[in-house]
Amino acid sequence: MNKVIVNSGLKAFDVEKIRSDFPILHIKVHGKPLCYFDNAATTQKPKVVIDKLVEFYSSMNANIHRGVHYLSVVSTKAYEDSRVKIKKFINASSEKEIIFTKGTTDSINLVAGSFARGKLRDGDEIIITGMEHHSNIVPWQLIANEKNIKLRVVPITDNGEIVFEEFVKMINGKTKLISVVYVSNSLGTVNPVEEIIEAAHNHNIPVFLDGAQAIQHLNVDVRKLDCDFFAFSGHKIYGPTGIGVLYGKEKLLNELPPYQGGGDMISKVTFEETTFNTLPYKFEAGTPNIADAIALGTAIDYISGIGIDAISKHESELLEYATEKISGLEEVKIIGNAKRKSSVLSFVIENIHPHDVGTFLDFEGVAIRTGHHCTQPVMDRFHIPATSRASFALYNTKEEIDVLVSGLKKIIEVFK
Ligand code: ALA
Repeated sequence: MNKVIVNSGLKAFDVEKIRSDFPILHIKVHGKPLCYFDNAATTQKPKVVIDKLVEFYSSMNANIHRGVHYLSVVSTKAYEDSRVKIKKFINASSEKEIIFTKGTTDSINLVAGSFARGKLRDGDEIIITGMEHHSNIVPWQLIANEKNIKLRVVPITDNGEIVFEEFVKMINGKTKLISVVYVSNSLGTVNPVEEIIEAAHNHNIPVFLDGAQAIQHLNVDVRKLDCDFFAFSGHKIYGPTGIGVLYGKEKLLNELPPYQGGGDMISKVTFEETTFNTLPYKFEAGTPNIADAIALGTAIDYISGIGIDAISKHESELLEYATEKISGLEEVKIIGNAKRKSSVLSFVIENIHPHDVGTFLDFEGVAIRTGHHCTQPVMDRFHIPATSRASFALYNTKEEIDVLVSGLKKIIEVFK
């Protein structure tokens, strides 16, 4: 079972070998083998990442940038090496453009706070889309309330795609930033970010990409995309929770004021005046999440060893397979039918609440997420309270999807 070896010019993809790298995939849930399809919420961790955390606290632990002693030098080097790995992984121009944060939400709040203080004036506008996660809505609303900023929202179609012509019409002389989700966590839509960025740059407007659901599935090259900011979370790319990244173009980051004040982000402090550290430290106040930043580097090494293109291909096949099987169930309606999708399958079942679906599947060993997925405006747009969502990762298999589909058939039968 689970033996799928693909070799089509990409790196060989051996899903069984990959599964053996993830200890948690071998547990039983309610006596059944675990089928983990809640990857958009968080991914499981390979043993190398877990081991790195143990290694750090067993033999490397010290604060960084502050000590001349052996352990401080070792941990500083490992932390900065991780930054270099991330820089290479997303093809940033410089390590100065890689800021460690707590995660995507923290990265968005950083830009919202700093950009608002440094660049926004009363009457300015920010454009987002109708499929944003709450984390790409609420930080802007908080700023909008403080500063009289208008938040404009690009509508979405019944298929779950943005209405591009409406987006273009919204751009005007007051638009100061466009902040868009790359891959929707509740619909799976891959947004046309290249076109969005081009349209924005024609008017010299910077673009922030929420890459939380993109980084683990797509080959992200920030220079090729030419995005101005890009954010992602470590835990969605097989790394630890509590660590994430903000990428920003160096020139733009240099123009922004610090977000938080504290240790390490300064160059000189007196009671009269403080001057700030250079990038990226200007945005990393206080003792950072050292161990998790280092283990995120290990996760990036792990993913790079397999190859993001091979992962992407495997996950596209899973999505296609699951879409075909689940569309075949008469009572099920898929929410989000964009032409370009990635790894997320949201659906509703006639007369069965998603929470009942999730609870029933749990007893089959199948983990999915049910609810509004922190995208209540998307649920409102489709006039539904919630969806059931299966989201795929590199270690999932078609056999697991068969278990999911057979669970759905059972619950449909029971509720009849
Ligand atoms: N944003 C995460 C999700 O989509 C938590 O489940």
